[in-house]
Amino acid sequence: MKSISTFEEYKKEYQFSVEQPEQFWEAKAEQFTWKKKWDKVLEWNFSEPNVKWFLGGKMNITENCLDRHLKERGDQTAIIWEANDPNEASKKITYKELHSEVCRFANVLKSNGAKKGDRICIYMPMVPELAIAVLACARIGAIHSVVFGGFSFNSLADRIHDADCHMVITADGGFRGAKDIPLKSVVDEAIKTCPSVQKVIVLKRTKCDVIMQAGRDLWWHEEVKKVSDDCSAEIMDAEDMLFILYTSGSTGKPKGVVHSCGGYMVYTTYTFENVFQYKNNEVYWCTADVGWITGHSYLVYGPLLAGATTLMFEGIPTYPDAGRFWQVIDKHKVNIFYTAPTAIRSLEAMGLNFVKPYKLDSLRVLGSVGEPINVEAWNWYNANIGKNRCPIVDTWWQTETGGIMISPLAGITPTKPGFATLPLPGAQPVLVDEKGIELKGNNVEGRLCFEFPWPGMIRSTYNNHARCKEAYFSTYANLYFTGDGCRRDEDGYYRITGRVDDVIKVSGHLLGTAEIESAINEHPDIVESAVVGFPHDIKGWGIYAYVIQEHSRKDVEELKKEITATVNKFMGAIAKPDKIQIVSGLPKTRSGKIMRRILRKISEGEVNNLGDTSTLLDPGVVEEIVKGKV
Ligand code: PRX
Repeated sequence: MKSISTFEEYKKEYQFSVEQPEQFWEAKAEQFTWKKKWDKVLEWNFSEPNVKWFLGGKMNITENCLDRHLKERGDQTAIIWEANDPNEASKKITYKELHSEVCRFANVLKSNGAKKGDRICIYMPMVPELAIAVLACARIGAIHSVVFGGFSFNSLADRIHDADCHMVITADGGFRGAKDIPLKSVVDEAIKTCPSVQKVIVLKRTKCDVIMQAGRDLWWHEEVKKVSDDCSAEIMDAEDMLFILYTSGSTGKPKGVVHSCGGYMVYTTYTFENVFQYKNNEVYWCTADVGWITGHSYLVYGPLLAGATTLMFEGIPTYPDAGRFWQVIDKHKVNIFYTAPTAIRSLEAMGLNFVKPYKLDSLRVLGSVGEPINVEAWNWYNANIGKNRCPIVDTWWQTETGGIMISPLAGITPTKPGFATLPLPGAQPVLVDEKGIELKGNNVEGRLCFEFPWPGMIRSTYNNHARCKEAYFSTYANLYFTGDGCRRDEDGYYRITGRVDDVIKVSGHLLGTAEIESAINEHPDIVESAVVGFPHDIKGWGIYAYVIQEHSRKDVEELKKEITATVNKFMGAIAKPDKIQIVSGLPKTRSGKIMRRILRKISEGEVNNLGDTSTLLDPGVVEEIVKGKV
């Protein structure tokens, strides 16, 4: 696909995409391998919602990621893998090899009974086999549901259960920094409550002891020996489900965001190529875990669809020391580097001595994703990593959008620190006030919505379409509502101001306050809890938990430790509260609703500006909470 190469061209392409969206996207879709061309480009309404792109088109995304490239770039490296331990050899996998491994593992899935439409849960460390497992599912038309390896058994069980998965692909364990994560034993614990699971395929990675249940659990390395590497791709309808990925909401359990094959393929390729301005033979590195949407769209699918070389890193930015990212960039001559503001801030805090030993001269483009990047972090990234010569793309998007929506095009769109800048062609943002009235013109601040569909957007929430409608399409009629606040400045540039609902972005991870509360409430001594966010220098937002205990215990510190351990056990380490305050009551309205607005203000330190507290059942509670603030 020819990328946009000037700002003028961007403006023209944007205009065209708004005036003639169907012609615009049809032209982008033509470069792919389709078994049958679509009959109709688009059908949509946001009221049900019903969104379909490339109707009647038949294809398989893995043919486009792999087979399509074999002739021209079969021997080019598709995946560079860098291990957690810098002394372990890295791996380079060519497109030809990846094709063969994906086909082989696809046959393993088939020989174990998996077929088109089945849901398969993947719970793995960041090793090449994770990408192989994802693509093998897509090869046979099975729907993958990747669960981040940092989630605990309870979160895993919820996700396996919701998607009714019959198979789980995992590893004995995973290496992350100095820790070994026992993945298989977490799976064992989770599937005690998931009778649907019939097969568990286990990759050997850490060689830790695991219990293999006969008839159910199979070793990856043994299974691949039994099958060939010849596997034709299942023919999929453009609108068939490609994957489910769970994301937190303001209420209840996580939602299984559903993406479909054709539109997602076209959208991730177009956005990858244009935003990063990827050039042939460049090395591209996205540091996200495949357990998140960024890993799906911009570590696996987008780069492979574009025939790029994508780097996958098993470890963490601070192991063995805070120079690891920069060491890997020099080692593999990375040209494009895409990471999260929280990583940038934490490495900034470690000081420049970890950056200085490295040249970083291969870098051409830097990217940021997952949360607002503050101006200071942007400037640090620009000066010390990009050496003031690499454009920074601050990419705004969501699990639900499938791909980047608002972002500069590297080196083309003039940037401003802290701004995601302008919508990509095909993205039609509108800002509305709380009542849904559109805020036209520039210099306005409101809630970010989209008024027209794009090919990579969410199609449904798994097994519960009503929830999709309720969460995204009901707040404001005929608009997709993102849940984000946003400002459009005098130049028409967009700056995301953060979430306006009850989810918090902690180190770039989206966590529902309701989910954290229910994990806390698993502690037998906790009667009730309320979780809100508070500004955190490194994580962006931290977790502040107000908890009521059943019997007053003297050793509060011990109780706090137990609460933390409970959250770790039921949800995972990413959801551990940063601050816990034991309270005797929570601010509630007369109808019993917790007034989170007040708790938020207190946690943010704005205790003199609590607003109207007259509707509270017991205003005395607030005074006590303010006094005991941690
Ligand atoms: O609040 C926005 C924030 O991350 C949310 C989406 O989170 P998730 O579905 O986990 O996907 C993250 C990776 C795409 C958004 O609603 N967000 C994401 N990117 C940015 C951002 N906030 C500000 N600037 C960004 N570049």
